[in-house]
Amino acid sequence: MFKGLVRKTIPLVAFGVGIAGFPRDWRAGHPQDTKLLHINEEVLRQIQSTKEYKQLESNKSLRQYNSSNAFPGQHHNNYVGTGLLFGPDLFEIDPIVFIDEEKGELTSFYHLGDKLISQDGQIHNGVVSTILDEGLCAAGFPLLPAKKGVTAKLLIDFKNQAPPQSTVVLRAKVKEAKGRKVVIGGYLETLPLDDNKAEKPLLIAESTCILVQPKWFKYFTWLQI
Ligand SMILES: *[C@@H]1O[C@H](CO)[C@@H](O)[C@H](O)[C@H]1NC(C)=O
Ligand SMILES: *[C@@H]1O[C@H](CO)[C@@H](O)[C@H](O)[C@H]1NC(C)=O
Repeated sequence: MFKGLVRKTIPLVAFGVGIAGFPRDWRAGHPQDTKLLHINEEVLRQIQSTKEYKQLESNKSLRQYNSSNAFPGQHHNNYVGTGLLFGPDLFEIDPIVFIDEEKGELTSFYHLGDKLISQDGQIHNGVVSTILDEGLCAAGFPLLPAKKGVTAKLLIDFKNQAPPQSTVVLRAKVKEAKGRKVVIGGYLETLPLDDNKAEKPLLIAESTCILVQPKWFKYFTWLQI
């Protein structure tokens, strides 16, 4: 019986260690952070020229973050995000994030390069999961009493695979905030870059995230994945 328990617990503990960095204030930023090595300026310009970007930028109730510091620090190293896989052909720009911290609404833009693909030549679902996890958490953190927490549950419904060289947009919104628990819903879709073209966004995945602020941050054993 003990053996069974151990076997079951190992992946959970591993995950728990991975998120143990969360309690750091994700907005604090880290001045010593390395500069970005590569930014695809053209993609950046294309995103900035969309009607949606301009609306978000002029919206006074939103804060904008450009840097990888917009997300909890630990994610940079352990997940795809802007740590290991940032660079030419991976994530070609830092995520551009707009957040309404009072309402828990977040819109963020990413560009996915050529090397984030799986064997079928499409963007890997792990990348999609990472974006959803980070983005939904970021939308939910400000509504937790301590402004920090851990992912208790992340449900992802994959709809379509994103083609390589996609510019994608994540839209996340807090659906319920009650004490130490926040439920966030969101979806990831491609961003048609030319506002004049009748190109339709392609829905990549929908997701629900349950974020909690544990009473005892040390104990992660209750985590469900
Ligand atoms: C983000 O980048 C845009 C354009 O590059 C700039 O106008 C804006 O001030 C930056 N915002 C922050 C918070 O760095
Ligand atoms: C600004 O953004 C918020 C989303 O948080 C939205 O509810 C509001 O309608 C926006 N305002 C304008 C003028 O677009």
